[in-house]
Amino acid sequence: MSLALVTGGAGFIGSHLVDALVASGHRVRVLDDLSTGHLDNLAHHGDRIEFVEGTICDRSICDMVADDAEIVYHLASRVSVVESVAEPERYREVVLEGTRHMLDAAAGAVVRRLVLASSCSVYGDAPPPISEDARFDPQSPYAAMKAEAEEACRAAQVSTVCPRFFNVYGARQRADSPYSGVIAIFRRFAAEGVPPTIFGDGLQTRDFIHVGDVVRGLMLAAGASSVGRGEPINFGTGVATSVRDLASLIECLPPGFEPARTGEVRHSSASTVQAWERLGFRAEIELASGLTLLD
Ligand code: NAD
Ligand code: UD1
Repeated sequence: MSLALVTGGAGFIGSHLVDALVASGHRVRVLDDLSTGHLDNLAHHGDRIEFVEGTICDRSICDMVADDAEIVYHLASRVSVVESVAEPERYREVVLEGTRHMLDAAAGAVVRRLVLASSCSVYGDAPPPISEDARFDPQSPYAAMKAEAEEACRAAQVSTVCPRFFNVYGARQRADSPYSGVIAIFRRFAAEGVPPTIFGDGLQTRDFIHVGDVVRGLMLAAGASSVGRGEPINFGTGVATSVRDLASLIECLPPGFEPARTGEVRHSSASTVQAWERLGFRAEIELASGLTLLD
């Protein structure tokens, strides 16, 4: 049985990926520092998976966990646009230097491919639908570090691919921080009967993709012979939803409004052509039905 290493595997997306890998018969090792991830997300696997608590900022730990892995899914990261504006150095250390450590560790081991969880935030305010050949225009330290991490993948001595996730949602997404994703926050407020806050006019749009689709795409990216040189591939649905419409869909109370947040993009939705042509991947879960798949 081949061994898959999932960095950030105790987190929201990573833990769903672990579920899918275990279900398809892989041996799985997780590296996570539990800074935003939680062991509860993996508890149902018991000792069927290997868990290593540690940071990708420590090169020797990266070497140790990558040593006998066939595939590395590199998801460990800080994930908030807003937090990155406040703590740019931390984002450089984790998002960029941590990725370099994992790439070097993978290149020195038997790893067949490293799959980087990149982000559509690298596009900044490119006009949607955004295709992969749009130039980088990062609006935040988070986006800038993801862009540099991708370049490190393309220069690495190991096969790589760089899925650019649009806004991912699903079960296990944390709602307990101001840095949490908007769907998790709005759902929590709706359940508690508290009006949500919309930053800006609420007409900004995002392309929301369900975590089940993202996990399927990641596994296709790991195996596809059509990629391997750090190709960027959008993981989105192609559908733009405004934050106001999202609040209505979730049946939030009438929102309050605050000024738009620094570093955020205005509009975002994916061109899905490359994902289909290179990976045979297409998102299948529409937002309205995905919102029923959250518990
Ligand atoms: P998450 O915070 O739930 O997962 C990140 C995981 O990485 C957590 O378990 C955390 O504990 C771990 N981690 C953080 N720093 C670490 C370090 N130094 N060493 C080891 N582990 C560390 O967030 P998520 O939404 O599941 O994000 C997973 C990946 O997907 C990230 O790379 C993120 O940038 C990317 N991504 C997410 C979205 C989204 O909408 N959620 C969109 C685009 C890209
Ligand atoms: C999210 C991801 C980021 C990813 C990017 C890709 C998280 C925490 N961040 O960033 O990792 O790279 O997608 O597009 O998952 N909003 C409100 N009220 C709130 C919270 C948010 O109005 O209480 C608005 C924001 O101002 C923003 C939109 O909702 O316009 C989405 O915000 P958020 O969920 O934080 O995601 P992104 O910043 O797009």
